[in-house]
Amino acid sequence: MAKIYINEKNKKGQINPEIYGHFSEHLGRCIYEGLYVGENSDIPNENGMRTDVVEALREMKIPVLRWPGGCFADEYHWKDGIGPKEGRKKMINTHWGGVVEDNSFGTHEFFELCRQLGCKTYVNGNVGSGTVQEMSEWVEYITFDGVSPMADLRKKNGHEDSWKLDYFGVGNENWGCGGNMRPEYYADEYRRYQTYVRQYHRDAPVYKICGGANVADYDWTEKVLAGCSPDAYRFMDGLSLHYYVHPEGWEVKGSATDFDAKTWYKTLSKAMYMEELVTRHGAIMDKYDPEKKIGMIVDEWGDWFTVEPGTNPGFLYQQNTMRDALVAGITLNIFNRHCDRVKMACIAQMVNVLQSVILTEGPRMVKTPTYHVFHMYRYHQGAQLLDSYIEGVEMIGEEEEYRVPTLQESVSSSEDGVINLTLNNLSVTGVQEMEVVFAELKPGQVSASILTQQMDAYNTFDEPNRVQEEEFTDFEITEKGLKFTVPACSVVLLRITGR
Ligand code: AHR
Repeated sequence: MAKIYINEKNKKGQINPEIYGHFSEHLGRCIYEGLYVGENSDIPNENGMRTDVVEALREMKIPVLRWPGGCFADEYHWKDGIGPKEGRKKMINTHWGGVVEDNSFGTHEFFELCRQLGCKTYVNGNVGSGTVQEMSEWVEYITFDGVSPMADLRKKNGHEDSWKLDYFGVGNENWGCGGNMRPEYYADEYRRYQTYVRQYHRDAPVYKICGGANVADYDWTEKVLAGCSPDAYRFMDGLSLHYYVHPEGWEVKGSATDFDAKTWYKTLSKAMYMEELVTRHGAIMDKYDPEKKIGMIVDEWGDWFTVEPGTNPGFLYQQNTMRDALVAGITLNIFNRHCDRVKMACIAQMVNVLQSVILTEGPRMVKTPTYHVFHMYRYHQGAQLLDSYIEGVEMIGEEEEYRVPTLQESVSSSEDGVINLTLNNLSVTGVQEMEVVFAELKPGQVSASILTQQMDAYNTFDEPNRVQEEEFTDFEITEKGLKFTVPACSVVLLRITGR
């Protein structure tokens, strides 16, 4: 029997809704086909955006969307994607599959998509191959309301009012595809570029994100912060971090659907590594920013497997199993528990690319196991993190190096007082007897749902509901908490109200 102790009196800070954010790049079938089909498509759409996909994402409560890349961002020239569509420039998407990018989805379409989704906007600028002027003009085009060349151009293109730009990234992966820079050099470039990201709305400033490290490149974090010191928070509101899980390493990656228990544990243990990354990058940030004014922005994370056989290798299309669901559950619990520093995270990527929440095929759409985890966890958005601890956890796995705890959780309290407990059983076969013990609260009403299936189960267009969130009723309310049994390989949500 494992016991979860919850101290509902000890609130540890707010879980920023944007921790549940998403990423959409001009890559494969993410934007085109996945989100945008154009006004003349037979697929039901509103102003070109797929109605089925938008509805599903709204149901999941998407809080923020990052666009246009990724590596694509540092070769994207935004002026190619505005004005009458027939006049927009075409280009080759050299990073992703060498296909023609016709720029029919540009700035106006992105803000229209976010309007339909009801989410915040995160635009990533081009440092690698763009100029300071180009970046500065993009911000002016999007956010300036007065008389100016860019505001006038926006109006000429049919949008009288400025848009709300919530987040702006100053480059992407500038240690790699964004220009292969050294951290000292990028720090100087960052200082210069961000100067011209003007704040036209003092009451709603643009949150500026500095390009951060890849995985465990602590040197990058150290040197970029040093280069922006003292008082790095004067130049940046956020600093990014990217981390992908490749079970067999970057070169081999590994199959998305064909794996054994040994690989299951290896994958989950690599997902658990996010804890160390957030802690260690966070410790460096604490040195330069002890008051935690700068947010850690994990704006690319997720599973990256070998592409689905028979698909374009540059499109990064992969299936999504219960293993992805657990990777999502584990990672989101880690972010919740570090909500004092982690202010935003964007899973890569939203539709048809890497660890997607939605897959599409022509007019058909399927919600992946990862979708269901985001849907279950949506109650954490904006809630207060609560102190929690699990007693009786064992370390399991088939290789010493890749052992994981049997259980992992996070707990929050919503504004209306409901307590949200999300719990993962990482074991492939082990059922777990559980008891929840509160400090003082006596549970009254409890509602719960569960996502569970065999480890490699996934949804297809012909069988879209094989893995889905189901009601969970098999619990007993006790004087001090709850008792229940958690099936192997599962993600559980319990919502508990006091008597
Ligand atoms: O998400 C796919 C790619 O991974 C992104 O374009 C890039 O930023 C990262 O390397």
